[in-house]
Amino acid sequence: MHWGGRPIDGLLCYCRAGFEPELAAELTERALAAGFDGYARTERSSGYVLFLGASGHALAQALPLRELIFARQKLRLLAELRDLDPKDRITPVLAALFGRAGFGALVVEHPDSEQGKPLAGLARGFGNALRPALRKAGLLTARDDDQLPRLHVCLLDGDHLLLASGHPRDAAPWPLGIPRLRLHAEAPSRSALKLEEALLTLLDDDERARRLRPGMRAADLGAAPGGWTWVLARQGLQVTAIDNGPLRPHVLDSGRVEHLRADGFHWQPKTPLDWMVCDMVEQPRRVAERMATWLREGWCRQSIFNLKLPMKKRWQETRLCLDLFEAQAQVPLQVRARQLYHDREEITVLAGPRPR
Ligand SMILES: C[S@@+](CC[C@H](N)C(=O)[O-])C[C@H]1O[C@@H](n2cnc3c(N)ncnc32)[C@H](O)[C@@H]1O
Repeated sequence: MHWGGRPIDGLLCYCRAGFEPELAAELTERALAAGFDGYARTERSSGYVLFLGASGHALAQALPLRELIFARQKLRLLAELRDLDPKDRITPVLAALFGRAGFGALVVEHPDSEQGKPLAGLARGFGNALRPALRKAGLLTARDDDQLPRLHVCLLDGDHLLLASGHPRDAAPWPLGIPRLRLHAEAPSRSALKLEEALLTLLDDDERARRLRPGMRAADLGAAPGGWTWVLARQGLQVTAIDNGPLRPHVLDSGRVEHLRADGFHWQPKTPLDWMVCDMVEQPRRVAERMATWLREGWCRQSIFNLKLPMKKRWQETRLCLDLFEAQAQVPLQVRARQLYHDREEITVLAGPRPR
């Protein structure tokens, strides 16, 4: 593996531009806890973080993507190529990959940043040219094979790129780690995309089928204008929507939604629910404590909630809120958290019973 000509190893992770310090802190802390030295290398607003100085293979195993909060994607670095000739970027890529086993797919992408976005056209064109060349060299299967590692080419500039590999069971399947979701014409708010992305990202297909079934009962705290309620009702759930503000009228059309004008920090269900979701804009510690109360008291079996992040010390606040939540819930929980593509200054948390 090469970094500026010298052997090097590590991880490449993508994040929301501006959240590189949080991802760097998270990777450093988690790597240390798993017994690895190493250091994060990043630039503010670049949309990616490199974690270097430790074995990428071992690190990738110790830090599963599912447990990372600020990473949208986690890849193992293979090589860095600088000073590429725009007339022939393919030869150096083939040379850097020489001798490797074939990959199951190729993704040519760029960081999701102001500097990276203009490279989208080049990424498309380069992908089209590179794909047949990789196949001819035996470095890419003739048809996509989702059992094999994917080759990621991350363009940092016209003459500068990173090569990395993504494990099919431990990397996001979408380019840039971003699921492309389209806002449904009837969705009452853009927030609907947040819950859709949470369900897609934080649960796998099997968990979604088991844990989110028609006829289940849910509460939505801070529901107006009704995006999250609408998503759950479309899945066939019966939803009690709690908000002093109004819901868009058509949200009630399904007959599965009841709107109560109440305070989400005081309302509680009369009988236990399958789900509670919460998007109230409030101090994250206050939300974390209230969510813990719901799970501790058994008012819901599982929950998805958002924690708004402060302007400063966002990693520390994230850790503190999640620790507080788990401590106060006083029941063994499986907790997954992620800063989703549709999240801005916030993270989304899924909490539910630990599988036996
Ligand atoms: C970001 S919006 C929710 C958007 C909603 N998830 C959607 O998909 O359309 C936050 C909502 O929380 C509500 N809210 C804030 N504090 C609340 C409280 N204490 N009780 C109930 N609702 C509250 C606000 O009225 C606002 O409608």
